[in-house]
Amino acid sequence: MAEAGEIVVSIAELDRYVISCMMVSGATEDSAVFMSDLLVTADYRGHYSHGLNRIDVYTSEVHHGVACGGGKDPTVVKETLATALVDGNNLLGPVVGKFAMDVAIQKAKTAGVGIVTVRGSNHYGIAGWYSLRATKQGLLGISMTNSSPVTYPTRSKIRSLGTNPISLSAPGKDGDNFALDMATSSVAWGKVELKQRKGEMLPSGWATDKDGHETRDPSSVTGLLPLGGLEQNGGYKGYGLAMMVEVLTSVLSGADMCSFVRKWKTYEKYANLGHCFLAIDPGAFAEGFTDRMQNLMDHNRNLEPVEGEEEVLVAGDPERKHMALCDKLGGIPYHPNQIEFLDGIAKSLGVEPLKHVIPAS
Ligand SMILES: NC(=O)c1ccc[n+]([C@@H]2O[C@H](COP(=O)([O-])OP(=O)(O)OC[C@H]3O[C@@H](n4cnc5c(N)ncnc54)[C@H](O)[C@@H]3O)[C@@H](O)[C@H]2O)c1
Repeated sequence: MAEAGEIVVSIAELDRYVISCMMVSGATEDSAVFMSDLLVTADYRGHYSHGLNRIDVYTSEVHHGVACGGGKDPTVVKETLATALVDGNNLLGPVVGKFAMDVAIQKAKTAGVGIVTVRGSNHYGIAGWYSLRATKQGLLGISMTNSSPVTYPTRSKIRSLGTNPISLSAPGKDGDNFALDMATSSVAWGKVELKQRKGEMLPSGWATDKDGHETRDPSSVTGLLPLGGLEQNGGYKGYGLAMMVEVLTSVLSGADMCSFVRKWKTYEKYANLGHCFLAIDPGAFAEGFTDRMQNLMDHNRNLEPVEGEEEVLVAGDPERKHMALCDKLGGIPYHPNQIEFLDGIAKSLGVEPLKHVIPAS
């Protein structure tokens, strides 16, 4: 069941909304369709921080001319059998990311592994959208990106790293899969925005204020803590993971890195973000990967849960539960404040607001 007061919107209507917003802002139809697939998939999987909550970023990028709305392709700058360096030509992040992941997939099919690093790109949304493209074809997929600096390294008074997400997905049996998809900060920035939009306080360990002190008030947040939180809770490991993402994205590709990346929600220069995509054919390694992968997941799912919990999950299970809920509801449930936010964007762009909204029972 949807939570009380939530509003359910059909996927077809969400697609219509995103495509209209993007096209009226200057994107080509092809690019707008990729954007819609990415953003609606994020909400469908329950990652509301990176679904329609982000539509204003993409429309603004195209509107301000700092991202190209389409009409050309990314370029393969150089390549070997298993590697490629791609220049995104400043196209929208999902257009670049889909292109580069598909290059990695093709290389994995011939060489056993494909690794593609990217520069000249923009915000690419949920990392899992790309890794799962590989897993739908029986491959392991890895995807990561750097992003605008909003995270404080431990011991630093200055924000210098992005929320730099990583995703690894791997196929199990009968369509089951492991799908880890996570920011390397304690949470995604969009989760703080959603808390503020709902008028809720933050859990501890998420964010800091302008003095670098931890805060639970979303209105005083100036940045995020790395995964793990404060140093005494292991935050230096999240900091290390965020640096690892920079190594494989910006340092390897020549994209802008850490503090030199354009500030979040500013549009005065190109973002020049870096991504990295890997596809791995399990057939190039020991026989029986999917059987063992299924055993690994099921072994953990079948562990006895602690008191108060019904079951043990593996990465990808929360998303599966959310998708099953959406399927039951006939659409995706949204908080009313989120719908109000989307209606405001529709009004400012001169696009029809979301229709066919069914109040959830
Ligand atoms: N493009 C960007 O710049 C950017 C930056 C940050 C995050 N993101 C995206 O935002 C989304 C949200 O990131 P997040 O870190 O807030 O995700 P999250 O904390 O909601 O989930 C992270 C992972 O943990 C798994 N998980 C959750 N609960 C679990 C449990 N009880 N047991 C086992 N596994 C569990 C999920 O399946 C998921 O794979 C992701 O899709 C990420 O790619 C994008």
